[in-house]
Amino acid sequence: MTSLTNSNAWRALAAHRDELGEQHLRNLFAADEGRFERFSLRAADLFLDYSKNRVVPRTLELLTALARDRGLEAARAAMFSGKRINTTEDRAVLHVALRNRSDAPVELDGRDVMPAVREVLARMGDFAEGVREGRWRGFTRETITDIVNIGIGGSDLGPAMACQALAACGHERLTMHFVSNIDGDHLAGVLAKVKPSRTLFVIASKTFTTVETMTNAASARAWFLANGGSEADIAKHFVAVSTNAERVAAFGIDTANMFGFWDWVGGRYSMWSAVGLPIALYVGRDNFEAMLDGAHAMDRHFAEAPLEANMPVIMGLLGVWYRGFFGASSLSIAPYAQALARVPAYLQQLEMESNGKSVTRDGKPVETATCPVIWGEPGTNGQHAFFQLLHQGTDLIPVDFIAPLAASHDLAEHHRLLLANCIAQSKALMVGKTADEVRAELAAGGLSGEALEALVPHRVFPGNRPSNTLLLPDLSPRSLGALIALYEHKVFVQSVIWGINAFDQWGVELGKQIATRIAGELAGGTRGEHDASTAGLIGAVRAAR
Ligand code: F6P
Repeated sequence: MTSLTNSNAWRALAAHRDELGEQHLRNLFAADEGRFERFSLRAADLFLDYSKNRVVPRTLELLTALARDRGLEAARAAMFSGKRINTTEDRAVLHVALRNRSDAPVELDGRDVMPAVREVLARMGDFAEGVREGRWRGFTRETITDIVNIGIGGSDLGPAMACQALAACGHERLTMHFVSNIDGDHLAGVLAKVKPSRTLFVIASKTFTTVETMTNAASARAWFLANGGSEADIAKHFVAVSTNAERVAAFGIDTANMFGFWDWVGGRYSMWSAVGLPIALYVGRDNFEAMLDGAHAMDRHFAEAPLEANMPVIMGLLGVWYRGFFGASSLSIAPYAQALARVPAYLQQLEMESNGKSVTRDGKPVETATCPVIWGEPGTNGQHAFFQLLHQGTDLIPVDFIAPLAASHDLAEHHRLLLANCIAQSKALMVGKTADEVRAELAAGGLSGEALEALVPHRVFPGNRPSNTLLLPDLSPRSLGALIALYEHKVFVQSVIWGINAFDQWGVELGKQIATRIAGELAGGTRGEHDASTAGLIGAVRAAR
């Protein structure tokens, strides 16, 4: 692939950025009555308003030209057709097959993966319904009341995020717990609340080697055996989700109680696979499948819609625009729904583990900045914490507002106020408040002269701060599936433009290797060669024991 920044498409965008200058969004709205219709679209039941972005029609033309120049259409086709696009791990990337709800085959090396996908999905559904209906019982023959998922990263964040998001349709007898951290506080806190005879542990790890998960699983197993369970009872209380049957068996879980998936499912793209078992347990087979339906609808949209009217493509390109031409180094995610509280954390892994790279697919240094820092909190809480910086700080930080039109509760007044705040924030970020407006406001409040002028600069809002607003019809499994698939494809689009592999994560390895060595040293083993800081810290920990 030719140089990104030397391409005509990139240069044209750079020139266009210069022309656009600091043109204010207020003026762009004033100059174009059709701006909202022009810069909004619907896909898979989601509605995206991207009119509050620093773009004009020409910007979108140039951005889509860049996408074509970078081969986005061919890359998209390569992913959907099972090509090994994760080249550093020599793997295909087929999470879309997990939610392929059509009859069409999905081929990998000439073989349709769909029969195996459907077989696991059917087993997951049967198992989930068995637990929910009380047919699957613990060693005292009581029903299961607590599900403890033990996993980390992609084997935790998706199910944890989705179970919280879909709590309105969760089974009333079941309480969901998610243990991820190797900090014993996490597991101990959960074990203190549950009864062994009524708890089902789901040990989720793609590799079944991750130290956090293996350590937590071993401790959970020991706790179970020390609290009334026997070896023979393990089968009723521990199930595994993994691609690694050998290691599951070695851990002592019967592979009959294992739900498999495949190396072509990346950890952070795995909530649609058996990793979603806790979701199926909590909300049931039909709701889990409705989530797959929503994701599939977004997949079809992404695969088929022209780039100019393609939601993930537009969101991805807007991100490239701000990162490349405005120096925006972060993106704030603001879900206006308490149930979506874990969505920012989920997207942190999805985006930053995928696109937090500084070499291209062919191993050369990237030419532009890549993934921004992803962060956020639900509204309206964020408004009372960090929105000050979004409005008046020195950085330009684009925001994705996400809100469900219908609430899953009966407190209609709360929902009205919630949505009012969501819309108000995007408007305030966009229009800002000029010095003249501030003066008029202060004068109306009775202030004048020096006292008034002294306050003006503090109360001016520059505005012109961009945002997207994504409206979901509701917090249903279908809407959630579409939302998450939208972001997955957005991340893919950006990886293609930046020329990076979104599907490996070598950057997490070094810390793991060093931690293994240091763990031995903390246990009293021979001290290794370290820099003075690391040696000093190891010494401090050993001295405190
Ligand atoms: O360390 C990063 C990572 O490999 C993630 O990509 C992954 O989601 C997580 O660890 C957990 O891995 P596993 O499911 O194999 O335990």
